[in-house]
Amino acid sequence: MKSIIAIAAILVAGGVGYAMWPAAPQTAASDTVVSMEHEALADVLLPETLSQNAQIGQLGFEAKCAACHGVNAAGQDGVAPPLVHIIYEPSHHGDEAFQRAVALGVQAHHWPFGDMPPVEGITRGDVTMIVAYIRELQRANVIN
Ligand code: HEC
Repeated sequence: MKSIIAIAAILVAGGVGYAMWPAAPQTAASDTVVSMEHEALADVLLPETLSQNAQIGQLGFEAKCAACHGVNAAGQDGVAPPLVHIIYEPSHHGDEAFQRAVALGVQAHHWPFGDMPPVEGITRGDVTMIVAYIRELQRANVIN
């Protein structure tokens, strides 16, 4: 719990810092807003509501995982796979597989994107919340 609050604080501080940082000159021609540089690999339907644990998990995911696994865990072409994907259904990648991936990293085996390094600064409790978030996204996309 404590570390998620720290993450939230970093997100807020980061947001404020970003807002205060003088914006780079905009090119007049660019009128599209791109949040991630790489194309999403899955069309993720969002559930209407997230449980409280999943909302906490979403913060953790956005702080620690989304840079690779993309917004809404939709993956990013050339970077990391979508976690809202049949490969990661609970019976194939149980919750413990998520804990192991985060603690120990992952050797590339399903995708051509290279290894996932261990993720620093995150507790098992944080990962439990992140898994709650991913499972709710999966269920909304009929991955059970
Ligand atoms: C530096 C990029 C990067 C970050 C950050 C990252 N991942 Fe990954 N992750 C990957 C890649 C690449 C793979 C695919 C490996 C493969 O080929 O199977 C992967 C695979 C996984 C898998 C599948 C593990 C398995 O057993 O096959 C899980 C679960 C996972 N990531 C969860 C997470 C979570 C949760 C976070 C955040 C706490 C996270 N990842 C952060 C790059 C990343």
